[in-house]
Amino acid sequence: MKNLTEQPTWKALSQHYQTLANHHMRDWFAAEPDRFNRFSIQCDEILLDYSRNRITNETRQLLANLATEQGLKAKIDALFAGQALNTTEQRSASHTALRNQPHASRAKLYQLTADIHSGKRVGITGKPFTHIINIGIGGSYLGPKMCTEALKDYAVSPLTFDFMSTVDPDHVRDVLADADPETTLFILSSKSFTTLETLTNGEAAKNWLTSKLGNAAWEQHTVAITACMESAVAFGIAKHNIYAINLTVGGRFSIWSAIGLPLLLLLGSDQFDDFLDGAHTIDHHFQTAPFEQNIPVMLALLSIWYGSFFDVHTQAITPYSYRLRSFVAYIQQLEMESNGKSVKHNGDRVDYATCPIIFGAEGCNSQHSFYQLLHQGRHLVPVDSIVIANPHDSSTSTHHDIVLASALSQAYAFMHGKTDKTGASELQAKGIAPSSIPLLAKHLEITGNKPNNLILLNRLSPKNLGALIAIYEHKVFTQSVIWDINAFDQWGVELGKQSLPSILQEIQHADPQLFSDTSTTSLIAYLKQCESKHE
Ligand code: F6P
Repeated sequence: MKNLTEQPTWKALSQHYQTLANHHMRDWFAAEPDRFNRFSIQCDEILLDYSRNRITNETRQLLANLATEQGLKAKIDALFAGQALNTTEQRSASHTALRNQPHASRAKLYQLTADIHSGKRVGITGKPFTHIINIGIGGSYLGPKMCTEALKDYAVSPLTFDFMSTVDPDHVRDVLADADPETTLFILSSKSFTTLETLTNGEAAKNWLTSKLGNAAWEQHTVAITACMESAVAFGIAKHNIYAINLTVGGRFSIWSAIGLPLLLLLGSDQFDDFLDGAHTIDHHFQTAPFEQNIPVMLALLSIWYGSFFDVHTQAITPYSYRLRSFVAYIQQLEMESNGKSVKHNGDRVDYATCPIIFGAEGCNSQHSFYQLLHQGRHLVPVDSIVIANPHDSSTSTHHDIVLASALSQAYAFMHGKTDKTGASELQAKGIAPSSIPLLAKHLEITGNKPNNLILLNRLSPKNLGALIAIYEHKVFTQSVIWDINAFDQWGVELGKQSLPSILQEIQHADPQLFSDTSTTSLIAYLKQCESKHE
């Protein structure tokens, strides 16, 4: 296959970009009242409105052609057929299979959930579990945390959830400070069961628990989730307390597996099934909808359009939902760990942009912090805003209406902006001295023409959250296919892990230098000085 930038459609897109780079979206909206209808896609209870993008029908057609040219359809089929698309690890990526069919460990997980909810499984002193502490990091943390926060309103039991991820002792101390050992269940969640943070925190939890309730308590109060059963057993977890995850499920795609246990405990098995069903609905949509009518594909193509033709390096995500406050952190791992790559499947370096820097925060908070730069700064930053149409509790509808109006008014402002003429009229109406108006009006000018997708969920239900996550998963996959990179490995994070043990040893033991790099040894020497001053 030709290099991406040599493809005829790529060249056509470059030329097409020149013809519309200077068009303003507000002119398109003024001339085309049907723009919303033409550039929005509905799938079940989710709507993608992508009308506020710097595109025409022709742009969309060319982008869809690019996906065809890069063989996207065949790659989607290969993903769902379980072909080994993770070429560097010679594995398939089997997350979609988890929402399609019952998997072996699910019955055991559902039984555990029922036993904890009913009080059949209790702590060593006979008290029911009321508090779950998930110990895990990366994909073994971000999904369970984000989803348990997002779906809090659907809780079927009074269980509370805490997450211990970072190895910072302050985190460990804070989580354990509020915990009652008699009613706490630990979930040790690590696909590899080698992750230093998780194992160190697991030891801390074990010491804390056994010091309070005796050695026998550990077995009763701990379950593990892993693809490496032997390592968990070696760590002291009883075999019957281990729940398997398949090696072919990537950490950042693992919320559908046993890694989702905190969410399952929150929702109960029926609602967890709804969550899986929502993702499955999107799987079907992704496999069958034409590219121009395909939500994940269009999100991926728009991102490529800006990344490569407008030279855009960042992408903001702003969920207008407090419940989705951890969504951006989740998507950061999903997108940046998957597609933060520069080498193609065949080992050649890419000569085009790949994953942009993803950042963002809850929408209303973002408006009062970094939106200023989005409106008037020098960077073009496309924004995905996620909006929930109906609040869970209708008695909060006034607040909710303000949230909706905030999202819509920002979407309008990104697109429309404000001319200096409008600014000048506003200043005049306020009675500002005519001599000050020309200068002030310049500061008020907002160019607009900023791309903005609106992803609207009918409500934030288990089903719709499952669908939303699957949309982003398939966006990531689509991009990886077009960029010809492997979305399912993460070699970049290994280097830091490899050098850590010798640096740790030097920090702890002042050994003759195991680590030869002077930038590191100088810092270690400085740290030791700080420590001795502190003593
Ligand atoms: O360091 C990155 C990473 O490998 C992620 O891909 C993964 O989600 C995380 O570490 C945790 O890994 P594990 O579940 O094996 O502890």
